[in-house]
Amino acid sequence: MKNQEAIDDPQKGLKFSNEAIPVDDGSFSPSTKPPNPGGGIEFINVGHIYGNHKRGSTNTEAVAEFSVSIKPGSLVCLLGPSGCGKSTLLNILAGFEKPSLGQVLVGGKKVSGPGPDRGVVFQEPNLLPWRKVIANITLGPDLAGRPKKETLAKARRFIELTGLSGFETYAPYELSGGMKQRVALARAWISEPPIMVMDEPFGALDAQTRISMQELLVDVWEKTGSTIVFVTHDVDEALFLADRILVMTPRPGRLSKDIISPLARPRIYESLVVNSDYAMMKREILLAMRKPEYYI
Ligand SMILES: Nc1ncnc2c1ncn2[C@@H]1O[C@H](COP(=O)(O)OP(=O)(O)O)[C@@H](O)[C@H]1O
Ligand SMILES: [Mg+2]
Repeated sequence: MKNQEAIDDPQKGLKFSNEAIPVDDGSFSPSTKPPNPGGGIEFINVGHIYGNHKRGSTNTEAVAEFSVSIKPGSLVCLLGPSGCGKSTLLNILAGFEKPSLGQVLVGGKKVSGPGPDRGVVFQEPNLLPWRKVIANITLGPDLAGRPKKETLAKARRFIELTGLSGFETYAPYELSGGMKQRVALARAWISEPPIMVMDEPFGALDAQTRISMQELLVDVWEKTGSTIVFVTHDVDEALFLADRILVMTPRPGRLSKDIISPLARPRIYESLVVNSDYAMMKREILLAMRKPEYYI
């Protein structure tokens, strides 16, 4: 069985010290393949207010003074309590929403709308019910008029990477939730965007499927080298996935903690959950997600 040795030995695959969790000093580089070029992201003093900004009307300040610089090829989790503005930030990065304040740069250029350099995956797979698995995966290249042969070769690669071999001609209604989300991942990855933007993509899955999908995500990320910005409210999910965890406060979401993960890869869930250092990091993150008056 894969990684059985590491499952048996909780300390295996972990390199973690009891010392304070390090803060990003700009020297971090991921231990993965060379990344796709152009996947660097900068949030510069981003703030967002929903509403018409008039006195007396209901305005919601979703995000405030959010500044962060993300290196190409990293897997960054944006973690925070529900309603703290994670989706707002992701929609701004994806180009679906214009920030009220500040700006986001991708590869040094200001984001002014959606673009092929950013693939997006949401909690709902949103597959087209009348297209088979393979045709859902090739949707982007088909719409862009890419040559069929090239598209099918790429589709085969991502079908294999996402564990969908044998399901190519299935209709979406014949698939489980996890399989549908695999199709959504393959559909986003086939265009090989340097950046993948993911908003709680495994949030609707059962615990076991969720773990398999997280393992799958790390596996494909290591093979493609994309930059991933992954939103979650689940501390364990962030700890399992991330190179770096950006913890947000409750609304208006501000950056509360910027943590570089010291956990070595490959990470094994069964090992992580019994490791005391993992638990300490989790405690620190849970505290950071509260309002400052709760800090102890
Ligand atoms: N389109 C919208 N119009 C008005 N308020 C919104 C809109 N989208 C989100 N909000 C509000 O902004 C805050 C942050 O929302 P969101 O970014 O979805 O948080 P999260 O993804 O962290 O749960 C919430 O209070 C939410 O109700
Ligand atoms: Mg959300």
